[in-house]
Amino acid sequence: MLVLGIETSCDETGVALHDTGRGLLAHAVHTQVAMHEAYGGVVPELASRDHIRRLVPLLDRVLAEAGLGRRDIDAIGYTAGPGLAGALLVGASFAESLALALGIPALPVHHLEGHLLSPLLSGTPPEFPFVALLVSGGHTQLMRVADVGDYELLGESLDDAAGEAFDKTAKLLGLGYPGGPAVAALAEAGRPGRFSLPRPMLGSGDLNFSFSGLKTAVLTAVRQHALDEAGKADLAWEFQEAVAEVLTGKALAALDRTGLAQLVVAGGVGANRRLRARLDEATARRGCRVFYPELALCTDNGAMIAYCAARRLARRQAGDAAGRAGTGAFAIRPRWPLAEA
Ligand code: KG4
Ligand code: ZN
Repeated sequence: MLVLGIETSCDETGVALHDTGRGLLAHAVHTQVAMHEAYGGVVPELASRDHIRRLVPLLDRVLAEAGLGRRDIDAIGYTAGPGLAGALLVGASFAESLALALGIPALPVHHLEGHLLSPLLSGTPPEFPFVALLVSGGHTQLMRVADVGDYELLGESLDDAAGEAFDKTAKLLGLGYPGGPAVAALAEAGRPGRFSLPRPMLGSGDLNFSFSGLKTAVLTAVRQHALDEAGKADLAWEFQEAVAEVLTGKALAALDRTGLAQLVVAGGVGANRRLRARLDEATARRGCRVFYPELALCTDNGAMIAYCAARRLARRQAGDAAGRAGTGAFAIRPRWPLAEA
């Protein structure tokens, strides 16, 4: 079965073709980073308009790459939330109307479910059940994943997401958007010891997070010191270390609490090399295994959405939606708890 995946929840247009027998056939992502850069962050209206421009060319591109035509598509999965309302509407209306025209099913997919299943697309996938650490620009969550569609929230950020903290820290350090990769690059040149930032909630005894105080601590440090480039790099190093230490500590606590030995890391911050190094080391010491999506599938993409829709279709867990052809009627959910997916 050939499933088309459409992702338009934020500032990346992702389109992919996943075949349930042959795997990922083609995927293409257009990132809007250059367009939003001048504004220092995502401008929702510009994002929506750009998704409209990109979808048809990207669809044609993946079909050409796979040597297939529109009539070969058996089902369409699209991100229905969470995300920017206008951006979601573009992908949803595109997917639903294409499904209606082709007489095939269209499935609304939860963006975070896409992220958390994305390591299953790799050559060495985890097996259910596992603990998932979801670290994106909008969410920081630990989940117990028993199966496709069976997600228990173990803990989450009470304020800023880890990616958001990276993005805000980047701004405070005068770096561009998106901030994560910029802070990570600057931290490469940084040295330990000069700054000491808090490790928020590391000892809280639960599996929740808080990153807004860390951002304030960065702000205070920036105000107190006239930082040259080397100073900024040292602060970036310490900030990255604080985030990586807290995420690692809580992920290990979640493995302890659930008695599970597999950890899946998903979402944009999962691309962070320092975080990966700490997680690799800490899990290896405990005899646990950690799984990441391929680097290209860490940030937003259509492949994870196509894959998620394929798994849902296979299990017939989408209820009526799984069996019906597109009707043109649909709803998006800009706010959508994963446990309800
Ligand atoms: O999952 P994602 O692509 O989009 C959302 O669904 O939010 O995650 C984007 C977030 C941004 O906050 C970005 O700054 C962060 O992931 N990010 C990183 C890195 N690459 C992306 N954070 C730290 N280190 C990175 N290498
Ligand atoms: Zn995402």
